[in-house]
Amino acid sequence: MRPSIILCINQKGGIGKTTTERETGFYLASKGKNVLLVDSDPQGNLTKSLIENVGCGLYDALEDDILHITKVRDNLSLLSADKRLSAFADRLTSEYDAYTRFKSFFRKEGFNQFDYIFIDIPPGFGVLTINALSIADYIMIPLTPSIYGMHGSNDIMATIDKARKQLNPDLKILGVVLICVDERPTIIKEIIEEIIKSFGKRVFNAYLSRSIKIEEVIASRIGLIELDEDHKLKEEAIKIGEELLKRLEAHND
Ligand SMILES: Nc1ncnc2c1ncn2[C@@H]1O[C@H](COP(=O)(O)OP(=O)(O)OP(=O)(O)O)[C@@H](O)[C@H]1O
Ligand SMILES: [Mg+2]
Repeated sequence: MRPSIILCINQKGGIGKTTTERETGFYLASKGKNVLLVDSDPQGNLTKSLIENVGCGLYDALEDDILHITKVRDNLSLLSADKRLSAFADRLTSEYDAYTRFKSFFRKEGFNQFDYIFIDIPPGFGVLTINALSIADYIMIPLTPSIYGMHGSNDIMATIDKARKQLNPDLKILGVVLICVDERPTIIKEIIEEIIKSFGKRVFNAYLSRSIKIEEVIASRIGLIELDEDHKLKEEAIKIGEELLKRLEAHND
């Protein structure tokens, strides 16, 4: 069967896209789903958070047809990114298949072993993001509840509607995931209420609290769910994963 492709989208940068895909990827893999994380961001944040030595990756696959998938854990693999993807994206814009390159690429036999493919996109709306949107089955919207984090959040649904009309009518929304939540300040509580007012049931009940622990986890190249000790973030990452699975199942009923 063809894998389901999941994308985190929010035109704003630094809002939790990579964190959401990384942690839900670890969770689904721990539940026996075969997961591929594809890093399409030239920054390579997802890649560097998982492997030390970056070799062949998405660039080599797209440019030279060398598909080198790195196994990170049982059931968890990575197609890595590096800064060469930036020049690649610039070149791609002037090619006739600029916006359909991913469509043909992800049909390759090598991807059929996976249940889920997460594509981590760069900030903004460049050619790689449009490619990913055109092949995605599901999207998640990560949001950091903060004043800056909310800038542009009203445009997200409009962007998704446009993508459905013009690119991919089958795009399904799994929901809004709150990442990096500090519930103490009143202003943040108010922002969360606003988010719930705007997005309603689309907002996941589960969320991730703000904690420096995430930096330790990234530095150690492990998932939150792999933490040995009991930690609030570990429990929260599990809850987000459980809710994601439920939402995926609900779409398939
Ligand atoms: N719960 C959290 N607590 C503290 N810091 C967090 C939390 N979640 C994410 N961060 C940090 O916030 C920063 C941005 O997160 P992330 O990289 O997931 O965003 P992004 O949307 O992928 O960014 P970009 O647009 O640059 O790709 C990262 O440094 C990440 O470690
Ligand atoms: Mg990112």
